[in-house]
Amino acid sequence: YIGFGFPNSSSSVAVDEELVGLHEKYTLKFSHVVAKNTPKGLAAAYFAELIKEKTNGWVEVQLFPNGVLYSAQEEFEALKKGDIHIIAPAFSEVTLHDRKWTALDLPYLFDNEIMVEQAFEGRVGDLLLESIEQKGYKGIAFWDNGFKQITNNVRPIVYPEDIKGLSFRVMPSDALFKTYRTVGAKAVTFPFNEVYNVLRDGIVDGQENTLSNIYSKGFYQQQKYMTISNHNYLGYVILVDPEFWSTLPEIYQMSIQEAMNEVSIWLRAHAKELNNDMLHRIASSSLTEIYEQSEEEKVEWRKALKPLYDEYEFIIGRELMEELRKLQI
Ligand code: LMR
Repeated sequence: YIGFGFPNSSSSVAVDEELVGLHEKYTLKFSHVVAKNTPKGLAAAYFAELIKEKTNGWVEVQLFPNGVLYSAQEEFEALKKGDIHIIAPAFSEVTLHDRKWTALDLPYLFDNEIMVEQAFEGRVGDLLLESIEQKGYKGIAFWDNGFKQITNNVRPIVYPEDIKGLSFRVMPSDALFKTYRTVGAKAVTFPFNEVYNVLRDGIVDGQENTLSNIYSKGFYQQQKYMTISNHNYLGYVILVDPEFWSTLPEIYQMSIQEAMNEVSIWLRAHAKELNNDMLHRIASSSLTEIYEQSEEEKVEWRKALKPLYDEYEFIIGRELMEELRKLQI
């Protein structure tokens, strides 16, 4: 993605430090676990560029991609300790800190990106951010990646019965474990940085992820079959520690929020195209046989996985569940 240009900041006036009397430089460490050439990796780089522009370099963002510092779960702890300042965990990782976020792991919750946007921008997003705030994290943006696809090394997965007896690496979310169990498969969790090795060593048969993660981390090189199932949406929430946040001058809080909003909009327009590009790259490798789930097959999967919705209603809460149902109408 060298040469994948970012637009310039939409606000033409950068913070004037002389005017506001600030002479202290702030360095924000931003840790994430994925590759640089993915939706999240590119968005983080764009954010770093924008914030520099908006604050005349008084706020600097240092990026730590590829999980070089921490795994997704370790990031939560490091954020609380103040060792890092911004994290962008996948929703499934958030479920360990706030069970309400399990809502976004319900299988086939979203049919398309428009529904995802309605959720992020509407009441669903507000309820989730209010909820995580009560757990001690401040959420300042939602970032897109894309829908997850299933890969494995044993056989093509078309109907729910095809998945029986197979094992998969998933993120540490109870609803994901349950999803696989419901169709007779087994799900285990490993940190993202271990996925390539557990696939290569045959510790699990498969995994589920977005096309950008499957390509950029080379998972497809270790997987014979991929089903384009779009069964869950993989998105991120940008979290900061509220105590640390309150130490930032208000003008910089505003610059950060503004930059985050611009990046979210940019990402919404480009994430799908980035994932599609990775699909072509995987396809042209001819290492993985790609099967696209039909609408008729989707009906079968939805039917098999429907019990999860009732089971998680209590955890998710009635209000949030009703908002999700409204999106599905
Ligand atoms: C994972 O499978 O752990 C990844 O999807 C994580 C990520 O941040 O995209």
